[in-house]
Amino acid sequence: MSIRFCGLELAHPIINGSGTFDAIAAFRVFGEGLRGAFPFAAYVSKTITLEPRAGNPPPRLWEAPAGLINSIGLPNKGLGDYLLEDLPLLADMSTDPSGAGDSQAVPLITNVMGSNAEEISRLLEACDERPEISAIELNVSCPNVHTGLDIGADPRQLEQVVRAVRGRTGKPLIVKLTPNTADVALCARAAQEGGADAVSLINTLRAMALAPNPLSRPPRPWLGGVTGGLSGPAVRAVALAQVAAVAARVAIPVIGMGGVQSAAHARELIDVGATLVAVGTASFLDPAAGARIAAALHAGTAP
Ligand code: FUM
Repeated sequence: MSIRFCGLELAHPIINGSGTFDAIAAFRVFGEGLRGAFPFAAYVSKTITLEPRAGNPPPRLWEAPAGLINSIGLPNKGLGDYLLEDLPLLADMSTDPSGAGDSQAVPLITNVMGSNAEEISRLLEACDERPEISAIELNVSCPNVHTGLDIGADPRQLEQVVRAVRGRTGKPLIVKLTPNTADVALCARAAQEGGADAVSLINTLRAMALAPNPLSRPPRPWLGGVTGGLSGPAVRAVALAQVAAVAARVAIPVIGMGGVQSAAHARELIDVGATLVAVGTASFLDPAAGARIAAALHAGTAP
């Protein structure tokens, strides 16, 4: 099942979606054994920004029909502490897809976001210096902070930014696309033209939830900007359509994600052109979802 992706050798095609699996917390809970039997073939970090971020005020999560709306707001410790504290802890993970002991190193993909080319350049340069990082994912698609979405939704701006920062690292650069745009394939082409080595999609769909009791809602609550990003099974059909549209228009590899809960769902994304598949919301329900899906995909069994 081993897969070549942007020059990396991965044990299988299943990785995590950024921000949906905290590997360091998982080691604390499940023990160091997890380090040698990691559920994902590559580990994608939560988005890292130059400075620490506290994230959005609550409520940050809201249940939606067949899905989850989040408005987390990219809380993170900032680049400096990520490199100092987290990277050494994440550096020596391996996966054992067959259970027969032929374990393989788990490459680290650091996800970063900046509000402009200058900030992104500084993030890429810092990541470039660290041998523990195998690839970088550029988040231009978070629906919960304005700057990220603006870059990713406009193909011209996206191409300009990717082109401006591309030379700052020799590591593979993955651009994470937003589904909240008129033509996602055009954005994927723009990322490719700017120099991206791969694209990943979909991030969450912009969504809204209101307090269930109409009497407790403020008048015209949408003016408060109470929106978030929808993920989970509710977005799977959208993800399939967008991944298919992008894979048909770019020559670079595509990481597909959106509502994947089973090997059958992962197989669908691979069948429409994804090289890798990321599991996201399903890991909140079951932290072992990635391992289960990879094993079933390998065995050719459901789910
Ligand atoms: O709000 C958040 O932290 C989500 C980030 C994202 O969807 O990229």
